[in-house]
Amino acid sequence: MSVVIVVGAQWGDEGKGKVVDLFTERAHTVVRYGGGANAGHTLVIDGKKLVTHLVPSGVCHPGKGCVLGDGMVIDPYTLLEEIAECQGRGLLAGKELLIGLGAHVILPYHKLLDGMREDRSAKRGKAIGTTRRGIGPAYEAKAGRRGVRIRDLFKPARLKDIVDANLDEMMPVIAHFGGTVPTAGEIDGWIADAIRAGEQLRPYTGDAGRHVAQVIRDGHHVLFEGAQGCLLDLDHGTYPYVTSSSTIAAGACQSAGIGPTHIDTVVGITKAYATRVGEGPFPTELLGEVGDKIRIAGGEFGSTTGRPRRCGWLDLPALRMGVRLSGMQSLALTKLDVLAGMSEVSVCVAYKLDGRELDEPPIDPDDIARAEPVYASFPGWDKLPAHAHDITDLPPTARSYVDTISKMAGVPFCLVSVGPDRTETIRLTDPFA
Ligand code: GDP
Ligand code: IMO
Ligand code: MG
Repeated sequence: MSVVIVVGAQWGDEGKGKVVDLFTERAHTVVRYGGGANAGHTLVIDGKKLVTHLVPSGVCHPGKGCVLGDGMVIDPYTLLEEIAECQGRGLLAGKELLIGLGAHVILPYHKLLDGMREDRSAKRGKAIGTTRRGIGPAYEAKAGRRGVRIRDLFKPARLKDIVDANLDEMMPVIAHFGGTVPTAGEIDGWIADAIRAGEQLRPYTGDAGRHVAQVIRDGHHVLFEGAQGCLLDLDHGTYPYVTSSSTIAAGACQSAGIGPTHIDTVVGITKAYATRVGEGPFPTELLGEVGDKIRIAGGEFGSTTGRPRRCGWLDLPALRMGVRLSGMQSLALTKLDVLAGMSEVSVCVAYKLDGRELDEPPIDPDDIARAEPVYASFPGWDKLPAHAHDITDLPPTARSYVDTISKMAGVPFCLVSVGPDRTETIRLTDPFA
């Protein structure tokens, strides 16, 4: 039995969907921990694409358990749509899905507030660039002990009580932001819709924490699927340009309600370059032609919002920070194919700040923004072979790039991905072994 956590090592969109799908082959159960429908995880199987926002990316393997942990914030309508889409594709036909009763619920007022705050902050040039999916307001409500949990959807009186109390506080804020204050009829409509959605979700709900603990006790392989990336972690990321949850490996235990002694290994995922969506410091960002080239070649447009992703060279100080924060013991390298055709590829090996050389980002986001990347250059490579399955199938320059990154990050690679499809993968080691 092994328990493996997979996390994004950068600012999200590293290819978690693809890697989790591959690792699910060996797992009994996949547990999505943290975040909500801000995530967009893409799977490509035989050329067919599926983007999961809430349902674990193990969903394409029939018979595997898919758990949504209590640490998530769930938009019930997005989840119902996703379940319907999966079922339309013949997935989730059995009793494979379990939604934690303790997970929090995103309601229309969370999204309203997220959007209004962003609009207002944008006027001051201070927007976070959130996905506007209500993530921040839902986690604020949770921390403020006034959140709605999945289990509350089954108790109409309790639900109404919580929603009324929330909106009582929120009305003046909505009015202050220049928003349209919802009428009593609208609020009742939100509550009635939430109750209906809850009834549809009810058959899938249960005690996720106890279930996962039992699966582990029964000796099965369990895979935890992180959302976002380590540098978007609420406590340790590039605050305030982060999401509102714990995205590092420790978040898996927190979200699922299992102890850290159950975890066997942590796998991080990094692209062969770097991307970021939304605002926040990004020292290796490429604002010109090269950045545009990577964006087009890598299809770097948000899986959730469609926003163009900011692109830059691989940032080793940032990657080292991700490795440290999550205690990663191996890395999966994705999108190596995207850099093909460049005569030279650069990697930021350190930052220079106030005359000092740093091997990890400084604490303050203004300092990260001021930091000057120190680059090392590598000779590029031509188009990778269509079906590279062994590391020796890679051109020597691409191989040397992979080896050097691994050495500089201080962690070996367990997998190299050379295309979006399941088959476009070089497997090196099995994290469940
Ligand atoms: P996630 O949020 O970490 O799951 O990543 P996203 O799905 O948001 O973004 C990753 C994108 O890269 C998706 O469109 C994937 O299909 C694609 N992708 C994953 N691995 C590779 C790869 O090795 N090469 C290429 N070209 N695309 C990849
Ligand atoms: P996956 O799981 C990339 C970013 C947003 C914004 C910040 C806060 O697909 O990797 P939020 O809506 O969470 O309050 O936004 O976090 N962000 C992501 N960026 N991938 C994601 O998820 C993200 N989820 C949130 O762009 O900068
Ligand atoms: Mg994504």
